[in-house]
Amino acid sequence: MIKKGIILAGGYGTRLGPLTKGVNKQLLPLYDKPLIYYPLSVLMLAGIKNILIITNKGEKYNFIKLFGDVSQLGIKISFLEQDRPRGLPDAFIVGKNFIGKDDVVLILGDNFFYGQGFTNRLKTALNKNKGATIFTYIVNNPSDYGILEIDDKNKIKRIVEKPSKPKSNLAITGLYFFNHKVVNFAKTLKPSKRNELEIVDLLNIYLQNKSLKSEFMGRGSAWLDTGNATNLFNASQYIAAIEERQGLKIACIEEISYQNKWISKKQILKRINFYGKCDYSNYLKKII
Ligand code: DAU
Repeated sequence: MIKKGIILAGGYGTRLGPLTKGVNKQLLPLYDKPLIYYPLSVLMLAGIKNILIITNKGEKYNFIKLFGDVSQLGIKISFLEQDRPRGLPDAFIVGKNFIGKDDVVLILGDNFFYGQGFTNRLKTALNKNKGATIFTYIVNNPSDYGILEIDDKNKIKRIVEKPSKPKSNLAITGLYFFNHKVVNFAKTLKPSKRNELEIVDLLNIYLQNKSLKSEFMGRGSAWLDTGNATNLFNASQYIAAIEERQGLKIACIEEISYQNKWISKKQILKRINFYGKCDYSNYLKKII
């Protein structure tokens, strides 16, 4: 069972400019909460309480301020900074002391996941992970993602980053499980043509070692892009539609913690005090 998780929440967010000129992408609103609440909630739903958030240089304190006293959330969050966005595998180099000899989940700070059965799926895959596990999703713009090349027996042949001529429409989502060997593998990587360490190079090492597992997320689940203004707006509308229909919030981190029995009413009351008068606080009042 993996007990540690990293949220990679740096990057320039260039495609969201000018929104991201003064603000880290993961602090932008995705409907009614900051973007980073969504990947954080995925880790918490998976039962992970020990979390590292990696941000850009000089941005750590914005995240510390955002979350306030995380002990009220029943989890532990450490914060580290990357000196520049060196690529996704840099998470394992920056986070090597946090990882130690343990296995780890990596989730990208801008990824949104939603769907019936997703939590159970996550937990089962977490228990089964031996090498690395990836989650794939069908997209109609495969040139924008890490893409699987598969043979006629559905076996993965290769993983390619943003291929100009994609061999499939199966994208790799920003959620990855790795065993402890990931730190050493990450250290062996060389920057690609775009001068970044590439997650696909890391995954191809696991593939060559026959220790890569792939979990297909069916069309009944949602993995939404938040990379440009249109996608971010569409994702916000998706969340608004579901939340308004059900009267339930997606990615309410306090609610998840309360349901996991990590916190009690007392901590929720403290969080209500922390947020002050707002709809989010009203929702917290409702759940207790
Ligand atoms: O979202 C899934 C995709 O994420 C995968 O299909 C691709 O294989 C993977 O390379 C990645 O592609 P992106 O082009 O979306 O990655 P991007 O550079 O936008 O970074 C994703 C998130 O990670 C974003 O929130 C910023 C953060 N990040 C990125 C880099 C390169 C960092 O915090 N540090 C970094 O060094």
